Amino acid sequence: MSLYYTHNNDIKLYKGDCFEILKTVDDESIDLIFSDPPYFLSNNGITCKSGRMESVNKADWDKTVSLDEMHNFNLRWISECKKKLKDNGTIFISGTYHNIYSIGFCLQQLGFKILNDIAWFKVNPPPNLSCRYFTHATETIIWAKKNPKAKHKFNYQAMRNINDPAVNKQMLSLWKITPPKKDEKTHGKHPTQKPIALLNRIVEASTNEGDLVLDPFLGSGTTAVACVNYGRKFIGIETDVNYLEIAKLRINDALNIKQF
Ligand SMILES: C[S@@+](CC[C@H](N)C(=O)[O-])C[C@H]1O[C@@H](n2cnc3c(N)ncnc32)[C@H](O)[C@@H]1O
Repeated sequence: MSLYYTHNNDIKLYKGDCFEILKTVDDESIDLIFSDPPYFLSNNGITCKSGRMESVNKADWDKTVSLDEMHNFNLRWISECKKKLKDNGTIFISGTYHNIYSIGFCLQQLGFKILNDIAWFKVNPPPNLSCRYFTHATETIIWAKKNPKAKHKFNYQAMRNINDPAVNKQMLSLWKITPPKKDEKTHGKHPTQKPIALLNRIVEASTNEGDLVLDPFLGSGTTAVACVNYGRKFIGIETDVNYLEIAKLRINDALNIKQF
């Protein structure tokens, strides 16, 4: 295990495989897990980015594997995460149609109670090149609780307030959030970076100040930045040192000026 970065022991980033590092995290210590695992969609296909044809391949960690391999992988990491959650803890997992059905089934197989399937509407998605089906414009984020009988945290009024203070209506499970802006990528690129607005909403909705949040597939550190913004403690795990470096720089920025 290797601690890559820490700030006051409240924010900790570990370099390594989450299956190894999760073993060192105390059982029943985590209030919230956000996870954005590999989608396994890198299959040498093509997509359109900024008007140009590009490979869909993200990286080696995202290479397509068989359905059984993907499902076993999801079952393994979600089982490990379940042990780490407090009894009233919850997990948000984001994914595309490539992996989200396996993830939903794993959560059901492992006894979680699904609270919501949130559709993140990306507002301005790249066009569909084949013109043979609808343009993909959403990602799904499943929110589930470890113990179906426990009272989980939900900051209902805070969500109502940010939904639209003028009309004061309940927050829907349809979230219209644009992809990360340029100023969220000043420290380098990650192929699947999530927008900070998305993680700010998740952290604010489901945790209180001082709570401990875990992200086993940290990437460029978006979850860590949201935790700094809202005064939550954080543990992040990532195999790639280049992404950890981006995460560290983003956290240092947020410690100076909160990012919304
Ligand atoms: C979909 S990305 C996460 C992106 C992140 N949400 C962000 O906003 O930047 C998944 C990340 O998991 C990392 N990863 C893949 N397998 C891993 C493993 N076994 N343990 C830890 N990290 C892993 C990859 O290097 C990649 O950065």
